[in-house]
Amino acid sequence: MNTLFRTTESPFLQYLNQPSTSDRRRRISSLPVRIGLGRSTRTGLAKTTTRMMASSSSAATETVGREVLKKGIADFYDESSGIWEDIWGDHMHHGFYNPDVQASISDHRSAQIRMIEESLSFAGVPDSLKKPKSIVDVGCGIGGSSRYLARKYGAQCQGITLSPVQAQRAQALAAAQGLADKVSFQVADALQQPFPDGQFDLVWSMESGEHMPDKKKFVSELARVAAPGATIIMVTWCHRDLSPSEDSLKPEEEKLLNKICDAYYLPAWCSAADYVKLLQSLSLQDIKAADWSQYVAPFWPAVIRSALTWKGLTSLLRSGWKTMKGALAMPLMIEGYQKDLIKFAIITCRKPK
Ligand SMILES: C[S@@+](CC[C@H](N)C(=O)[O-])C[C@H]1O[C@@H](n2cnc3c(N)ncnc32)[C@H](O)[C@@H]1O
Repeated sequence: MNTLFRTTESPFLQYLNQPSTSDRRRRISSLPVRIGLGRSTRTGLAKTTTRMMASSSSAATETVGREVLKKGIADFYDESSGIWEDIWGDHMHHGFYNPDVQASISDHRSAQIRMIEESLSFAGVPDSLKKPKSIVDVGCGIGGSSRYLARKYGAQCQGITLSPVQAQRAQALAAAQGLADKVSFQVADALQQPFPDGQFDLVWSMESGEHMPDKKKFVSELARVAAPGATIIMVTWCHRDLSPSEDSLKPEEEKLLNKICDAYYLPAWCSAADYVKLLQSLSLQDIKAADWSQYVAPFWPAVIRSALTWKGLTSLLRSGWKTMKGALAMPLMIEGYQKDLIKFAIITCRKPK
């Protein structure tokens, strides 16, 4: 798959490959995991034994950090997915709302479906002719998107998640809805997908990118499993784009993101502009990105309101510490959006034919 990266590196990637820069920009509070943009190319630069030893020990630390992160993510979703499903249903992602219109509780479920439809329409996925026949749902949760897309397009859909509880529940829901022959789920890592090259004509990642400790590997895996001409859709949490005069976020911004990372098992964040540059470095086509933060503004207040209902509170009290910590961090997401630090981004592209 790394053949995709043998193209000339953009100045952006060269910039990120400098240790001092990535060390400055890519810190995470509790997990020793870096963004990993271009880091693999650095090993070839180690010229002395000392450097090689330093590099292999930091690679080992990074590997351990990634395993810790994966376990944290799996445990977090194993523990919290049942509660989320009880209260919010089978979509574990933001809703898409009309800005400045007060949404009632019953609107939230349709706002989550609207998020899927708006994403497809933004990416220009055709509804009729040439509609997708094979889809991968990367970071599938309990399979809400997979089943929706399989039904909508009559397509075969395969979902992957780190959480065994989610994979099992996703499969059970598919069977209960008569979709067992259309969708399937497995526990697998998005950074090492269990699929051959060029398999899918729609590659879908709805709010999983923020969990990926190596954005370059993540994007390259999405591109690898995409068939020629396939559409790739990523909807993900980003930090704001940096201005030309900045080479990092402000310390107080980093501090807020680190608290969120800690609660939701996230590695370092990147911006939508970073994703666009990665896609460009892979020679992907029709790259588009948009900031949808204004369309998701009612979401977190609604989640907090639902947590404060009798059902929400009793479910939370019965849940474990990871879920409680996630609930306590919800106001931080609102703060991040209000400070224009957190951006809800959609980034789409097409693999060349
Ligand atoms: C917020 S949930 C989104 C679920 C789903 N896309 C939806 O919209 O309902 C994030 C999902 O990403 C998955 N995930 C995180 N890191 C992953 C990785 N490295 N490989 C596979 N899945 C991952 C989690 O297991 C979880 O299912």
